[in-house]
Amino acid sequence: MAKFKIAWMPGDGVGNDVLEAARIVLDKIKLEAEYIPAEIGWENWRKEGNPLPERTIDILKNSDCALFGAITSKPKEEAEAELIPELRGRGLTYASPIVKLRQLFDLRTNLRPCKAYPGNPLNYRNDIDLTIFRENTEDLYSGVEFHPVPDEFRQAIEKANSKMKRFSGTPANELAISLRIITKRASRNIVIDAFEYARKHGKPSVTVVEKPNVLRETSGLFVRTAREVSTKYPDIKFYEANIDAMCMWLLKNPQDYSVLVTSNMFGDIISDLAAQLVGGLGFASSGNIGDDYAVFEPTHGSAPKYAGMRKVNPMATLLTVKLMLDWLGETERAEKLENAIAAVIKEGKVRTYDMGGKNTTLEMAQAVAGKI
Ligand code: IPM
Ligand code: MG
Repeated sequence: MAKFKIAWMPGDGVGNDVLEAARIVLDKIKLEAEYIPAEIGWENWRKEGNPLPERTIDILKNSDCALFGAITSKPKEEAEAELIPELRGRGLTYASPIVKLRQLFDLRTNLRPCKAYPGNPLNYRNDIDLTIFRENTEDLYSGVEFHPVPDEFRQAIEKANSKMKRFSGTPANELAISLRIITKRASRNIVIDAFEYARKHGKPSVTVVEKPNVLRETSGLFVRTAREVSTKYPDIKFYEANIDAMCMWLLKNPQDYSVLVTSNMFGDIISDLAAQLVGGLGFASSGNIGDDYAVFEPTHGSAPKYAGMRKVNPMATLLTVKLMLDWLGETERAEKLENAIAAVIKEGKVRTYDMGGKNTTLEMAQAVAGKI
């Protein structure tokens, strides 16, 4: 029997292309794993009205972790219009399966390293080494949303908070509410993860990125919790920054920051920004990590226009495989893989279109495999 069972979820668009690339390096490093295909994504939505079928959840439950390619998601009306005719008009609503997986398996930590590998022509600077810890289950992405807003709910908020009265003249169908839910427990967990990571990897600082001057209660709770946690790590510098200013500073002095910790939506936004500093989404890896399960995915989307063309940069996925190997305890293989990735970037002979080259997704993966 193989040592690991890995659920294999290409998903949509270029997901298949990049997982093919992943397989080339996994085979090369001879990971003792069984890869179990699992369906997820747009086709399942169209044909079954559910982008995350129960059978996929079962496969995940019976595996050690999952590797995921990419997902297509579209706004409400467009999603409904693409359902097969039999399923239309049944009130089915599309919800992002990756967001659902994060919540279902309590994959509370989204780990997103953004490191500049020397030789990458797309680097903003060569000395950037950021690691983002994004809380992955709460905040505005909790999925608690209303449109139209039920009367009893409106009345209850008006009663509890007079600021809501400003909207009392707005018709129910002209008002939408998404709740920003933040718990102390989740905030504490993500901040602890950030500090533990900093300690383990010798990182100099942790910066909590929020907006407590305006979002007094939600960001306030997050930052207060971060302060409490920080006192247990006197060896690591602790900074606080507002999300808007942080965007500016990341463009100004990205080399001054190390580990960033934030809530779900700010983490979503700032991780795209940070990715661009080190070559764009073609280099951005991520792990959705819980206490005993994890789903690894490149940060990029499904880029439907490139689907099947084997054109996109697989480095984000190969770096994601590295994160997966680390999480599985295969640290030696993880290190070999990262060194091979760094060597291919440094050499600059094999480059995909985003890097100004002409090589394919698979050629890039083969080049990395060749360096292992
Ligand atoms: C990401 C993506 C997802 C998110 C989308 C696809 C739901 O943007 O992983 O950053 O918002 O979390
Ligand atoms: Mg995102």
